[in-house]
Amino acid sequence: CGIVGVTGNDNAVEILLEGLQKLEYRGYDSAGIYVNDENGSDYLVKEKGRIADLKAAVGSEVHGTTGIGHTRWATHGVVSVDNAHPQVSQDHRFYLVHNGVIENFKELKAQYLSDVTFTSQTDTEVVVQLVDYFAKQGMPTKEAFLKTLSLLKGSSYAFLLMDSNDPETLYVAKNKSPLLIGLGDGCNVVCSDALAMLNVTHEFLELQDGEVVTITPNSVEILDREGNGVKRESFHVEMDAQETDKGTYPYYMLKEIDEQPNVMRKLAQMYLQESGKTNVEPELVAAIKEADRIHIVGAGTSYHAGLVGRKLFEKLTHTPTEVHVASEFAYEKPLLGEKPFFIFLSQSGETADSREVLVNVNAENYKSLTITNVQNSTLSREATFTMLLNAGPEISVASTKAYTAQIAVEAILAKAVGMAKEQVIAEEFDLRQQLGLVATGMQAIIDEKEEIEDLAKEYFVDASRAFYIGRGIDHTVSLEAALKLKEISYVQAEGFAAGELKHGTIALIEEGTPVVGIITQDNTASLTRSNLQETLSRGAKIITIVRQALAKDDDTIVIPDVDEMITPLLSVIPAQLLAYYTSLNKGLDVDRPRNLAKSVTVE
Ligand code: G6P
Repeated sequence: CGIVGVTGNDNAVEILLEGLQKLEYRGYDSAGIYVNDENGSDYLVKEKGRIADLKAAVGSEVHGTTGIGHTRWATHGVVSVDNAHPQVSQDHRFYLVHNGVIENFKELKAQYLSDVTFTSQTDTEVVVQLVDYFAKQGMPTKEAFLKTLSLLKGSSYAFLLMDSNDPETLYVAKNKSPLLIGLGDGCNVVCSDALAMLNVTHEFLELQDGEVVTITPNSVEILDREGNGVKRESFHVEMDAQETDKGTYPYYMLKEIDEQPNVMRKLAQMYLQESGKTNVEPELVAAIKEADRIHIVGAGTSYHAGLVGRKLFEKLTHTPTEVHVASEFAYEKPLLGEKPFFIFLSQSGETADSREVLVNVNAENYKSLTITNVQNSTLSREATFTMLLNAGPEISVASTKAYTAQIAVEAILAKAVGMAKEQVIAEEFDLRQQLGLVATGMQAIIDEKEEIEDLAKEYFVDASRAFYIGRGIDHTVSLEAALKLKEISYVQAEGFAAGELKHGTIALIEEGTPVVGIITQDNTASLTRSNLQETLSRGAKIITIVRQALAKDDDTIVIPDVDEMITPLLSVIPAQLLAYYTSLNKGLDVDRPRNLAKSVTVE
């Protein structure tokens, strides 16, 4: 979900709505704002659907100087206006927006609020009613808020609370969910992502877990868990609000696919010198060099980038490497060796599942690196080291350029560590030149996008299920390729180890089922081709994505030659485009697929 707040600005409504629009990628099933002004007028507007629907509902008479807003990704309670935020206390005194999950909300409701009539099914309403409950016992607002927070056991939250009796003050609290304070000129703002408020300010204060903040137009008072005042320096966010514009593209996803060649060039320039040396922090290289095992942790597409990373780290650094789905690792820790090193992959740097693992890793004092696209994000701040993807903001829910950037950065790091360990293969791997070839190769594939659109129409638009198959590194790409198709086109797609298909899943192949084979590796090409034949004999319609050196006359998509270790950087591009055009030609909202959010800050 996304949170915004502002105090001390006559354009509060516009600032909130614009901010919510920028945060829409965090959830878009419903949204709402509450604003008031010094004269005591106030407005609550909530709507199902997109921010555009909320904007339409707001109309021209709604105005104010202080307010809060929220765009929701439903956890507790169905998608409805009642369940949208802000949630309101019984007598309409307190208004609250919330990201996160309150684990013990049922117990609290039973213990304190049995007399209250609830209007929503949300855990959030319990919190706002509790604040009201304690206020009615005579506590000032801040005290009632603190008392309420003290009762929330094992919960994650970012809260933004308003008291309609005190129109200029915002009360903020955070635990595990991200939240920033933005410092404006005569006004202050709150947001779950700096992107939302770049039109107001570029100066932000980060908050730590457990902190509670009181904000007025001219003051920000931060208290830590123990109630002590905290002084904190602001940080500057460089990003230009323009960077988040779609420009002439119909969807962000296509823009982001198109940006990949440039991202590759930029990463090569940033991290790799012409001499073959790398610009990777020596302390980071030393820490991984010492490790007896590398653990890569991620969710969704980032997990898939980790699967490619494993192969790179094992080949180039000769260090055993494991990859973990973050939500599994947090609660089923595998046996760790003497000196594990953790690499967190996260485009947003905010995914709660990954963050939970990092909290455990830090508790054990293990060293860690976060590879992320977002400077100052939670995972970046809390890991020992950070490497930035520098891919520019990724807005489309389906991740594209972050996946390829993550793989490129993993390759750079693996080379750096491999060289430090005097691995010949790492020394000889001319990654700077290779990333140049990748950039050109990506462009060549993107230039053929019309042909890929034709394939999407012919094979996928009317399909109910599809398969991507490959072996080894091609298998890892098949998982990402299938995820792309599922996420945005709702075709039930599965990525499969090509040789494993015949051991069960081949039963699903029927007349016309599309099967895409990814073939980029010398040692497995002919085997994967045989597996494709097995599906062809059972009625499948076949597409092949094949590296030039292995291509045959009847292959469908031929991708340029690059080193076998980094072929995913190219083989994934046709899969991204196939997913994009399938979604587009089905008339779906490519950037905002149903049920998903780009950044999931609940576990
Ligand atoms: C969400 C998104 C996915 C993304 C995953 C991990 O589920 O919908 O596209 O891959 O989170 O996000 P992260 O920001 O940690 O890479």
